[in-house]
Amino acid sequence: MRKPIIGGNWKMNRGTPHESKEMLESLIPLVEGINNVDIIIAAPFTVLINAYEILKNTNIKLGAQNMYFEDKGAYTGEISPSFLKDIGVEYIILGHSERRDIFKESDSLINKKLKKALSINLKPIVCIGEHLEEREAGKTKEIIEYQINVTFKDLTSEELQRVVIAYEPIWAIGTGKTATPEQAEEIHIFIREILKKKFNEETANMIRIQYGGSIKPINAEDLFNKENIDGGLVGGASLQANSLSQIIKAADNSYR
Ligand code: PGA
Repeated sequence: MRKPIIGGNWKMNRGTPHESKEMLESLIPLVEGINNVDIIIAAPFTVLINAYEILKNTNIKLGAQNMYFEDKGAYTGEISPSFLKDIGVEYIILGHSERRDIFKESDSLINKKLKKALSINLKPIVCIGEHLEEREAGKTKEIIEYQINVTFKDLTSEELQRVVIAYEPIWAIGTGKTATPEQAEEIHIFIREILKKKFNEETANMIRIQYGGSIKPINAEDLFNKENIDGGLVGGASLQANSLSQIIKAADNSYR
């Protein structure tokens, strides 16, 4: 049985110490005692240190939303994975579609970042997913397979087992258009098939695959009840303690 994982991706929101403190202090009591779900808040860099202090004795883990693949050097404006690790960051989102589309990150760049994250024991959440035109052209599986091939290139099975995959159809992100549980489940099954072929059956069965894209309290339960959906990566609905806690509870209920 795979433990569900819910990641709240705050994106470039809740970036002041005051607003993030308020949100986290409301969330903590709402999810206290939930131990069957890994709960992560991926906050903006500016609040990570404060967030660590607030979360350190709770069941909520800290994540960041991006990193570079080098530890130090002349990389103006980039953020070092070891700096993140030093301040208590445990999870790292890599290859989010906003990084890919707006900041032109390629699968091979994400592969470098992934190897670096694994080498210093940051826990990666790697996002993959297709654009609307690709889905409409019947190319979803081809795109997913390509992203897996390049992003996970040269990883061992042992390394891959430490990765969380977030399947995020890009047309569902921030649009209010969720994939149906059946559409998501079909791709999650497909991802496991590819991993079985490329790595092995044990790895394909162990790896956690989250769904992401307009998850709300109203649709969370139906998504998480699907056998191959191991929780979610939540954007908009992670900004309010109340809606995020309801989604976390839906994941908790799905764990049998
Ligand atoms: P959304 O974002 O929940 O606002 O659609 C999801 C994501 O980008 O991870």
